Amino acid sequence: MTAIDLSLARSLDAFRLADVVFRPETAEDAAAIDAIHDVTFGPGRYARTAFRIREGHAADGPTSLVAVYRGDVVGSVRLTAIAVGDTPALLLGPLAVLPALKNLGVGKALMRLSLEAARQRGHRLVVLVGDLPYYRPFGFGPVPAGRVILPGPVDPARLLWAELVPGASAGVGGSVRATGPTA
Ligand SMILES: CC(C)(COP(=O)(O)OP(=O)(O)OC[C@H]1O[C@@H](n2cnc3c(N)ncnc32)[C@H](O)[C@@H]1OP(=O)(O)O)[C@@H](O)C(=O)NCCC(=O)NCCS
Repeated sequence: MTAIDLSLARSLDAFRLADVVFRPETAEDAAAIDAIHDVTFGPGRYARTAFRIREGHAADGPTSLVAVYRGDVVGSVRLTAIAVGDTPALLLGPLAVLPALKNLGVGKALMRLSLEAARQRGHRLVVLVGDLPYYRPFGFGPVPAGRVILPGPVDPARLLWAELVPGASAGVGGSVRATGPTA
């Protein structure tokens, strides 16, 4: 357990999702987010294909959100600007919530709010690598085989996308590369 977990454990009985503040990530949040990634994904995260796409590129500011509870960052979702072939899109991930606050709605709220921010900013398509049962309620479904090519191995059943605008995935295909500013 991290120090942050211990302080949270004392206040969990009183936890209310309404007390969580969701806001765009800032540079000052980086260390706290890294600590959450460390505890949720471990060092293996650096070898993941999605990590390789994002590596060296800044997350998309307006859509990458943190969840803050009693002054501590307890959850984070990052989105990164990508192109699939020639089509602009966002790559969603990592999504992570501190284990002490698991299954209390923080992850779902981060998903809902970040996708809403993406939609408002005119983004049309979001791609991710993750568990379909978790992401399906947000509009994600499997990418048809061979349509999206990642720079490394990925379980095809976990390669998902969601249209923020109906029809946004029509005709889209090709290799994925990050297009945002370098970090
Ligand atoms: C996955 C994660 C982000 C979910 O966030 P959370 O705040 O704990 O969960 P939420 O409260 O938003 O959602 C809980 C619901 O999702 C379900 N759920 C959680 N993880 C799931 C998964 N991998 N697959 C399917 N369902 C899942 C729970 O069973 C629960 O279902 P219920 O609402 O029917 O009870 C969080 O548990 C986490 O950080 N896990 C480790 C990192 C990770 O796996 N990230 C996702 C990468 S794909």
